[in-house]
Amino acid sequence: MAARRRSQKQKLVDFITFPVRALTLFHEDRYGLSCLATERFDYVARRVQGYCLDIGCGPGNRFVRDFLDGNGVGLDVYPYEGLTDSNIVPDFLSLPFPDATFDTVTFIANLNHAPRSQRDAELQEAFRVLKLGENIIITMSNFLAEILVHKLVALYDRVFVTALDIDGQRGMNVEEDYYLRPREIRQRLRRAGFIKISREFFLTQWCLNSLFIGWKPHQSESRAL
Ligand SMILES: C[S@@+](CC[C@H](N)C(=O)[O-])C[C@H]1O[C@@H](n2cnc3c(N)ncnc32)[C@H](O)[C@@H]1O
Repeated sequence: MAARRRSQKQKLVDFITFPVRALTLFHEDRYGLSCLATERFDYVARRVQGYCLDIGCGPGNRFVRDFLDGNGVGLDVYPYEGLTDSNIVPDFLSLPFPDATFDTVTFIANLNHAPRSQRDAELQEAFRVLKLGENIIITMSNFLAEILVHKLVALYDRVFVTALDIDGQRGMNVEEDYYLRPREIRQRLRRAGFIKISREFFLTQWCLNSLFIGWKPHQSESRAL
């Protein structure tokens, strides 16, 4: 199956309908509209360099399966529906891969779920398993959007007895946060050794969500630092 990508026409429709989709917690693609997860996966997939490790992949390992055509590995610490034993690890502090295995490592909507005291160590581990000259991608919503969506999801689950709040399902640790500031993301990326850090906004989510890209230096770049 070919990896999914949104067309220009789909992006225009998604742009126009964003407020309605955001406020109704549109969680599956339907009526010709993309859900919020499809949007973030589509933006990230366009920046993936090759064989990818998706940390905190969530239910169904959707990003690697549908958006990278299976070219990667999705890992999580919680046995969500649609994951197998090969997707589950006890933590992200010592990943079961040799150095320089991947062309991209992604943290999609989840670096805030790494306990504060482990965030740097998780990024260092991501750095270790990346090949030289390759990239890490982190997505993070805007502060208000993040808080509002979490509150709306919790309310929706209570009223309609659904389980859309996958973080509630897992149970959030006291050291997790709902949101990370851009400055913290950049600082932690730099501390882990990444360079040339840049940010791209998601236009079809009215720039309320964005991704950060950092690069593992080539040997020549490391010497120059
Ligand atoms: C909001 S969900 C995002 C899931 C998926 N990446 C997506 O974009 O739909 C947060 C994910 O972070 C995972 N997670 C839990 N602990 C984590 C940690 N220490 N580091 C990174 N991710 C973690 C959760 O299990 C969950 O799958």
